[in-house]
Amino acid sequence: MRAFAKKSSRSPGMAEPIRVLSGMQPTGALHIGNYVGALRQFAVMSRDPAYDALYCVVDAHAITVDYDPKELPDRVFATTVTYLAAGIDPEKSALFVQSDVPQHTELAWYLTCITPMGDLQRMTQFKDKSVQHKAVNAGLFTYPVLMAADILVYKAGLVPVGDDQVQHLELAREICRKFNSHFGHVFPEPKPQLSTTPRILGLDGKGKMSKSLGNTIDVLDPAAVVEKKLRGAFTDPQKLRLGDPGRPEICNVFTMHRGFTPEDVRETIDRDCRTGALSCGDCKKLLATRMNDELEPIRERAAELRADRKRVLNVLQDGAARARTLAESTMTEVRSVMGLTTHGR
Ligand code: ADP
Ligand code: TRP
Repeated sequence: MRAFAKKSSRSPGMAEPIRVLSGMQPTGALHIGNYVGALRQFAVMSRDPAYDALYCVVDAHAITVDYDPKELPDRVFATTVTYLAAGIDPEKSALFVQSDVPQHTELAWYLTCITPMGDLQRMTQFKDKSVQHKAVNAGLFTYPVLMAADILVYKAGLVPVGDDQVQHLELAREICRKFNSHFGHVFPEPKPQLSTTPRILGLDGKGKMSKSLGNTIDVLDPAAVVEKKLRGAFTDPQKLRLGDPGRPEICNVFTMHRGFTPEDVRETIDRDCRTGALSCGDCKKLLATRMNDELEPIRERAAELRADRKRVLNVLQDGAARARTLAESTMTEVRSVMGLTTHGR
């Protein structure tokens, strides 16, 4: 019942909180792209009474590519620790593992049966991953349908994600509209909630910062590692030495400043970069300080949580219990409107 505490603390007359759902795969250490694109918002929304948030670790999505079953539970634990350390409040939101709530996969199958193949073939994440991985299975192809089910099973209205997930969200909205028009209105249309830094590039400045590309700064990297990685980060190639004017709008280090540095300081950085007064080296040092100031308390909390396995597992158990209740209530409705009930059963 813990997760309901937030609702009972609302004063009468306040609007109903907006249901929020999001998730991340337990595929490796979370990086600062995940953090500024999504996770920081998870934490803020978990503490805001305007929202009723559920966050999951999507282990069933992680098995769509080659993985080691022996390692998966540890990866789920590590992702949960980072979620909590980043500030998700488990008293005010539900935090759980996707496979603990089988209603997700049940709904995913029903939604698969109304999703056109052509819509799935257009998904850029599928196209990218099918090039990266040798064996492509049907789960990787229907991955976005499971994501739609994750969201719709809670009738979520808002989904905090980074830019690269917007296409999947658009498909979830299509599936939602299609379901409602076939079977009657059951689901509200979920909308993406983007942060002010919805996409940061990797340290090489080439592609998106991504766990699978080895171009990341991780949330839990020690301070010295953050400094070192930033020293090698790609900047404006036209700015080679102090005095050269730079172009913040094409510089990924400046994009990272947007995620970590207050606006007034950023304005000075922008000006001094353009005039050439600020070197890339000093700009990176300023960024490393801001990043480490924000990430250090998260690293400390993560170390405490790692040492308290029982507490973390209890959070997941409570979260799953709340999630299952909500999800089962939706599924009762879904089975009924789809004719998946025998009279009297
Ligand atoms: P990755 O590509 O590193 O495996 P995921 O696909 O698991 O990351 O993404 C988890 C969440 O983090 C999603 O909401 C995603 O949009 C967001 N995200 C991932 N990479 C970035 C990035 N480079 N910049 C901003 N947000 C990102
Ligand atoms: N597909 C998302 C990613 O790769 C993860 C995800 C799965 C998700 N289910 C979700 C995100 C539901 C938001 C809502 O990052």
